[in-house]
Parts: sequence; C-alpha cells; structure tokens
Amino acid sequence: MEFFNVLKERRSIRHYEEGFIVPFEDIKKIIEAGMYAPSAMRRFPWEFLVITDQVLLQKIEKEHKYASFASSAGVMIAVCEKESVSHAGMGVIDVAMASQNMMLAAYALGYGSCFCGVYPETHEKFADVLQVPKDVRVIGLISLGKAIETKGVPERYDELKVHVNRW
Ligand SMILES: Cc1cc2nc3c(=O)[nH]c(=O)nc-3n(C[C@H](O)[C@H](O)[C@H](O)COP(=O)(O)O)c2cc1C
Repeated sequence: MEFFNVLKERRSIRHYEEGFIVPFEDIKKIIEAGMYAPSAMRRFPWEFLVITDQVLLQKIEKEHKYASFASSAGVMIAVCEKESVSHAGMGVIDVAMASQNMMLAAYALGYGSCFCGVYPETHEKFADVLQVPKDVRVIGLISLGKAIETKGVPERYDELKVHVNRW
C-alpha cells in the first residue's frame, strides 16, 4: 500500500465485526511497527499489554467513557510507559509516536483501529483495572479489529496553521 494513502486513509474505527480476532502474528507486526518509533535518548520506554480476554474488554468498556466498542473490536492494546526508563518526562511523547506507527501499520495490514486516551485523566484507574506494575503508566488503549465501517479521506491541510520564519 502506498505510504501517503495509508497516512490519509487511516481513520478511527468504532464499528467492528463481532467475533473476529486479529491473529497474534499480525498483532506482533503492529507492535513491532510501534517499536520503530523515535524515542528520546533511545530509551524506548514503551511496554504493550495485549488484551483479548472478553471479560477484561467488557470491563474496559464499562470503565472508559469513550471506548464502548472495546469488546466488539476483539483486541485492545494498552500502550504504556515505564516511567523509570523515560528520558526527562518525554515518555508520553515516545508512546504517542509508537501508537501512531501502530495504527498506520494496522491499517496497512487491513485492520481498523482507534486510540482511546487514558493518560492524564484516568491512568490511575486503568493501572488498577489492568493491574500493571507500579512503575508503569497506561497512556492509551488502541482497539484493533476488522472494520465494518468505511470512512472517506477528509481534507485536512490547513494553510492557516503553517507559519514560515515568522508567526
Ligand atoms: C489523545 C487521543 C485520545 C483519543 N481518545 C479517544 C477515545 O477515548 N475514544 C474514541 O473513540 N476516540 C478517541 N480518539 C480518536 C479521535 O477521536 C480521532 O483521532 C479524531 O476524531 C480524528 O479522527 P481520525 O482518527 O479518524 O482521523 C483519541 C485520539 C487521540 C489522539
């Protein structure tokens, strides 16, 4: 798939084919894409928790205000930061960069995804829900599954947001 098509066609998907689970082999490729993201001082502070357990997915649905599609997606990956490994508080940025790589990879492999924010408002609750170690901060949850909705490519280039040399 052509890179710029992947970039523009990836959309947040919130409707998924029930019962379909992305094979682990592809989940691994998606996580590998995340691990190719840039990272401040090469610390690579990310950790990934793959969630396929329906009970846990339903719990996420219940606890997250905007992830009502978690269990229908079939897979959610909690993208996390190991705080002690991060450089100068930049771990959240590293994890965000990894997340975008992952969603582009998911689209290129034929899957839909959606990033659901956790940090900074609900990371304490999700640390508890997902039982992560003390040093680990849950930054977000990425749903993965087979999309049953299609979305077009919106025009997003905005000349007014581009400044050259002087604001
Ligand atoms: C930090 C962040 C948090 C988000 N949280 C949620 C969320 O909790 N639930 C959700 O359905 N979408 C969430 N989104 C997805 C945005 O709603 C989506 O990216 C935006 O509407 C633009 O649409 P697009 O991804 O299709 O281009 C989040 C995106 C970001 C970057």
